[in-house]
Amino acid sequence: MKIEKAKSYGFCFGVRRAVEIAENSQNAVTLGPLIHNPLEIQRLAENYNVKYVNNIDEIDENIKRVIVRTHGIPKDKLQKLKEKNVEVIDATCPFVKKPQEIVEEMSKQGYDIVIFGDKNHPEIKGVMSYAVHDRVYVVLTPDELKDKRLREKIATVAQTTRKLSDYLKITNYLIENYKEVRVFNTICNATFENQDAVRELSKRADIMIIVGGKNSSNTKQLYNIAKENCESYLIESEDELNPEWFKNKKLCGISAGASTPEWLVEKIISKIKEMT
Ligand code: F3S
Repeated sequence: MKIEKAKSYGFCFGVRRAVEIAENSQNAVTLGPLIHNPLEIQRLAENYNVKYVNNIDEIDENIKRVIVRTHGIPKDKLQKLKEKNVEVIDATCPFVKKPQEIVEEMSKQGYDIVIFGDKNHPEIKGVMSYAVHDRVYVVLTPDELKDKRLREKIATVAQTTRKLSDYLKITNYLIENYKEVRVFNTICNATFENQDAVRELSKRADIMIIVGGKNSSNTKQLYNIAKENCESYLIESEDELNPEWFKNKKLCGISAGASTPEWLVEKIISKIKEMT
């Protein structure tokens, strides 16, 4: 059986950068898990003594350094952290920082803010916290704007992992209904590159193995795309592999979520080779 990796998979730029920051800041804590991969979190804890705390109150005087994770945190929490006697190392992805800066600047200029995204997602909670007024609307569809009376000056940003076609529905609605709309395209392509690659490979493969955290939404998206096209499995570690899956298969495709480290992908490929 042949094994082929998708053309694009695994760590995106922001996650790679955050992991490097963590490796270089030994004996630090992260506020919330740095990335959505339990094995990588465990490796950082064991090899670099980088652990995580769930909220700021857990940071006691023994903790000297705190890493802010890729999704970013609300402005008031960042401020609270800075007031503590700790070194704050900001690993917020630059592509997440961008909408934070835009929201801050445009709200200062008096624009109403429309954010396309999920208001419960940590990235969006962070982004909306940068507005200097409360005329901020977080929506997933244009319908949610229909009963709102916005001012004539509107600035809009999108959650980094959203689809452009869905964002355009919102921006089109705004342009049709308001005089001045400043549209900022803050969508990050990294997730889509992995998705396109999994789509292409799963159409040719007999079986797809998707490696990643079961709580990671981008990993689940890859799995859903793969299983539309062939028999597919989402696994977190090599222990979950079953030799039965590979019987009579000619091509096994491999992909991994944006928080999955390369060492884990390689470990899984070696185990598949042993089994087949
Ligand atoms: Fe950043 Fe895009 Fe990854 S926003 S964390 S590079 S998916």
